[in-house]
Amino acid sequence: MTGTAAVTGATGFLGTHLCTRLLEDGWTVRGLSRPSSDRRLEGPEWFVGDLLDEGTLALLVDGADVVFHLAGVGLWSADPETIEHVNRDGTAAVLRACRDGDAGRVVFTSTAGTRRVNGTREFADETDIAAPVGAYQRSKRDAERLVDEYAAGDGDAVTVHPTSIIGPGDDSFTPQLLAMGLEPTMPATLPGGASIVGVSDVVDGLLAAADCGVCGDHYILGGENLTYNQAATRISEFADGTAPALTVPATAIRAAGPLAAGVRAVTGRQVFPFDRDMADLATQRLFYTSEKARDELGYEFSPLETHLPETIEWYRAR
Ligand SMILES: NC(=O)c1ccc[n+]([C@@H]2O[C@H](COP(=O)([O-])OP(=O)(O)OC[C@H]3O[C@@H](n4cnc5c(N)ncnc54)[C@H](OP(=O)(O)O)[C@@H]3O)[C@@H](O)[C@H]2O)c1
Repeated sequence: MTGTAAVTGATGFLGTHLCTRLLEDGWTVRGLSRPSSDRRLEGPEWFVGDLLDEGTLALLVDGADVVFHLAGVGLWSADPETIEHVNRDGTAAVLRACRDGDAGRVVFTSTAGTRRVNGTREFADETDIAAPVGAYQRSKRDAERLVDEYAAGDGDAVTVHPTSIIGPGDDSFTPQLLAMGLEPTMPATLPGGASIVGVSDVVDGLLAAADCGVCGDHYILGGENLTYNQAATRISEFADGTAPALTVPATAIRAAGPLAAGVRAVTGRQVFPFDRDMADLATQRLFYTSEKARDELGYEFSPLETHLPETIEWYRAR
């Protein structure tokens, strides 16, 4: 499938990888970029404006065969009000522009964080809708509802839920994960675990969702389910580094939660793990199955080591 793709979040980590692949595959790519964003990627036609700028959005999506809506802000980069405004109201603005213009399928990038295991199963799937923890999950939950309503009406939309993405160009999760396996000065790992997916696999999933996802459906795009200790050990074995000897006790992380909330209240600055609930999440094994995406989209993910050469090279060159 090729055509014209409109991409919000085109200047971000995932968006840059998606735009690069779309261009390689022969798509015409339009990217949304804030005025101050880094537009060094050559190839997309850049539409300069904010997600909440209706005029720019209308031009961006009109005539696009697929609208990949990736733009969003996370807990590290903004306060709760901004997170909810950009992630929820920004999604409403994208859907409005698509409804009012001549736009094809919307592929919305939410997060696996809106799903968590209910009961005793080990892996969460798309049906495990969880009570949101924090502004980021709440905003994504609200945005998902808007996309579902759009798809239930006369719109065409699919939602994907990536898990924890690693790859070159990511300034948040990737460096933290690699530091656990590569840095001798990083003596300990976190007690929980995550589904760790390479960015190229998520890009495959986005393209497959555009091509053959069922309108109104949700697809988890995950990778290997690993405890942080397992991930750190495999990274260090791969790179011949020094494996971390200790795991931070879960009780220490949980105790840090209220402290972090206190610091935020006084200084207005976010500090991990944000609050008691987030601290609790950080100690859990947040494992996911991507079986539905595999069966319906042909989605596949590769092992951690497949993604390590270029990710470590990027990490060391930073
Ligand atoms: N990375 C992960 O592990 C992960 C996992 C699950 C889901 N996701 C979701 O995947 C999407 C992309 O994530 P990412 O890791 O690529 O994040 P990222 O690197 O922080 O990129 C976010 C993008 O959104 C843009 N943006 C933010 N606020 C905007 C606004 N008001 N108007 C227009 N654009 C705005 C940013 O533009 P600037 O360049 O101007 O900042 C950037 O292009 C997000 O929706 C995120 O929630 C990510």
